[in-house]
Amino acid sequence: ALRRAGNLHWQHIDVDKSTRARSLGQSPRCVWFTGLSGSGKSTIANLVDKRLHALGKHAFVLDGDNVRHGLNRDLGFTDEDRVENLRRVAEVAKLMTDAGLIVLVSFISPFRTERRAARALFGEGEFIEAFVDTPLAVAEQRDVKGLYAKARRGELPHFTGIDSPYEAPEAPEMRLDTAMESPEALAERVVRRLLGE
Ligand code: PPS
Repeated sequence: ALRRAGNLHWQHIDVDKSTRARSLGQSPRCVWFTGLSGSGKSTIANLVDKRLHALGKHAFVLDGDNVRHGLNRDLGFTDEDRVENLRRVAEVAKLMTDAGLIVLVSFISPFRTERRAARALFGEGEFIEAFVDTPLAVAEQRDVKGLYAKARRGELPHFTGIDSPYEAPEAPEMRLDTAMESPEALAERVVRRLLGE
């Protein structure tokens, strides 16, 4: 059974978030990339990360494939496991912004409710939902990892877009249309937004 926080008390830490942000010379943000498998989330997040580092900013990428190797290795792809996957990642992203970082979260995050719950952890303007808008047909056509083919053969149950839902964002802060612009151009747009240009 889960241990609830009933007998715990919040420990005050003297160095606050704005102090940390000031010493890093940036505004902490969480960019939450959401989109189908193969939509281009990781490619764009990686480009944003590289560009920010080149500009002397402090950023970090949280990527589904990677986090599922460690912190979330106990989780699979049922609805329940995805919910827990995203709950943990949102909390980690929150900790990282508390540390002053610009966090680039790259998970399918297929459910509106969990994206809303993630957003609720952050302050006004701190959370940027970036919908990597690639139609299923295009992602499936690319099939970089061969997972769509496997899913169509019935060898990969609960695959997003095939037999597990993807609820597209209704009002994301950014819509990244991968059919219209290159990953580089889209990444540049994210960077400009982060730097307030
Ligand atoms: S979720 O829905 O947010 O919890 O998913 P996420 O943690 O981002 O993990 C997605 C990556 O896991 C691989 N994979 C699957 N994706 C979707 N459905 C199923 N059943 C599945 N099984 C494995 C896949 O490589 C995803 O990576 P991306 O980068 O999104 O293609």
